[in-house]
Amino acid sequence: MNILVVGSGGREHALAWKLAQSERIQMVYVAPGNGGTQLDSRLRNVPITDPKLLAEFARKEHIGLTVVGPEGPLAAGIVNVFREQGLKIFGPTKEAAQLESSKDFAKAFMQRHNIPTARYQTFSEVAAAHDYVQQQGAPIVIKADGLAAGKGVVVAMTLEEAHAAVDMMLSDNRLGDAGARVVIEEFLAGEEASFIVMVDGKNILPLATSQDHKRLKDHDEGPNTGGMGAYSPAPIVTPAMHARVMREIIVPTVQGMAKDGIPFTGYLYAGLMIDSQGNPRTLEFNCRMGDPETQPIMARLKTDLVGVMEHAVNGTLDAVELEWDRRTALGVVMAAAGYPDAPRKDDVITGIPAETADCVTFHAGTTIKDGALVTSGGRVLCVVGLGDSVRMAQKSAYEAVDKIHFDGAQFRRDIGWRALKRL
Ligand code: AMP
Ligand code: GLY
Repeated sequence: MNILVVGSGGREHALAWKLAQSERIQMVYVAPGNGGTQLDSRLRNVPITDPKLLAEFARKEHIGLTVVGPEGPLAAGIVNVFREQGLKIFGPTKEAAQLESSKDFAKAFMQRHNIPTARYQTFSEVAAAHDYVQQQGAPIVIKADGLAAGKGVVVAMTLEEAHAAVDMMLSDNRLGDAGARVVIEEFLAGEEASFIVMVDGKNILPLATSQDHKRLKDHDEGPNTGGMGAYSPAPIVTPAMHARVMREIIVPTVQGMAKDGIPFTGYLYAGLMIDSQGNPRTLEFNCRMGDPETQPIMARLKTDLVGVMEHAVNGTLDAVELEWDRRTALGVVMAAAGYPDAPRKDDVITGIPAETADCVTFHAGTTIKDGALVTSGGRVLCVVGLGDSVRMAQKSAYEAVDKIHFDGAQFRRDIGWRALKRL
């Protein structure tokens, strides 16, 4: 079978890498892919991003199944386009993707279905938004309604920051249409975890748990990023917590979407905040896998992903049981100089070690230029180490990180610290 993976990041490299391990695969195409997917002989890059042209490609190349990595094409309706042509694709329709593409949709949905989340109100009028902020006090969280590539959330610790965020989005229109409406919500304290499941419209298959590190620098300091590292499993999600999240958040979400007439298919990612009493609340939904969470999760998956994806598009996920490597997988993101504000391009990358049983490097912002592997985006690589403990996984990952070089590389030295603290 031929498979198509849509996207170009570390998440898509990890998905393609895992799919290509299946004996049933002839070719895994990645559109548009990156330097790493280009270098892997089992994968082939396709320089297409337009959903209609991708569907045409899928028909011509006899693609048996397509999986979509990022939210952009999902919100643009790639699943609708493929399905209209009878092509098999795993992801949510444009309508279902609103769980991620509109914070107001997601909040109203959660309120309607009694899914635990922060209290909120939505505004498009700047004066009313300022009044609400003043009345609620700080800390408070201001979120652009639409997709803003990770720049749409301001966690304001002071009233001044909160008012500035309202002005930035509603008066100065700095986020364009995405910020034309804002959700203003209660600040939640606690520890975050990523809870990702596969959904076929009705059946739910949870993946291994994980935890991301959003801040650029060690000790969770510096600006927010797309994620500087992740590991799996996340010890904060105990079996009891897992059961509770399924019961209170995931099952009501999947049933609620079906009841509302917009059945959800695809990866569903609930970003959780777990408070000091152990109560989980939903910070956000993503309608895709996490990046970089996918990299350690795929490194631990033992089951053939092709078979799982087939069940997912055929509505038979209830027949699947996943098998996981019992070890911890820990991914360290190496980012370009200037990331996240203004990542520099064209730095030559050297020293990436060959894949072993306990270390694999996934590419994101890389490309081949004049025969050399160079940086081409913010997050450049995600180096995943596996080990019998968090400490061992960390050691495998950082041994490889220390061999890799590009000018201005930024990475954290403390990925996994929350798990270590807990143990
Ligand atoms: P989101 O894109 O909604 O997940 O927000 C990005 C990040 O902002 C989250 O990963 C949290 O670290 C933080 N955040 C979002 N909402 C809240 C909230 N209500 N309280 C505290 N922190 C939040
Ligand atoms: N790692 C966070 C995300 O994928 O949204």
